[in-house]
Amino acid sequence: MKKSTYLITSLLGILAMISVAAPSFAADAPDGKALYVKLTCIGCHGPEGKGMVRKRDRKDKKTGEYKYRKGDPMPGFEAYPKLAGQNEVYLYNQMQDIFSGKRSNGLSAAMLGIKTFIDSTASDEDLRAVAKYLSQVR
Ligand code: HEC
Repeated sequence: MKKSTYLITSLLGILAMISVAAPSFAADAPDGKALYVKLTCIGCHGPEGKGMVRKRDRKDKKTGEYKYRKGDPMPGFEAYPKLAGQNEVYLYNQMQDIFSGKRSNGLSAAMLGIKTFIDSTASDEDLRAVAKYLSQVR
């Protein structure tokens, strides 16, 4: 093999190794969007943290008045907060306070119910990633 061919071949080899290794580096960073679903947050805070809300307006056929509007809470979810677009640090701090029991107001007991599951499945880094993801939803 000519010296130059050898050099090119080994350069290609190195490039191939880098391209194979790169995705595994990316996979190491927790994926806040996927964790939001995996950690069941979506079940109470709705798709993308936008709340469990009505998808469209509905009017009363006779009176023409709105029965409910798009974005209104679904029945039973009136006291569940929307999280999308809230400040990252605030979201993270509230999660910590709810899971530690420091914040126990309103319906926080509902969320405290998943603490054991969170403790066994999620790291602090994961919760930070979820907070970051939610803060970036527009
Ligand atoms: C079983 C239902 C439930 C699940 C599951 C749940 N939450 Fe909550 N969460 C609540 C309720 C209810 C509140 C409001 C507590 C209150 O009234 O003080 C809340 C409050 C919060 C708050 C504070 C919001 C604010 O404006 O102060 C954050 C942040 C939050 N949840 C994040 C999450 C994340 C992230 C997950 C997933 C790891 C999650 N929650 C899973 C029910 C739930």
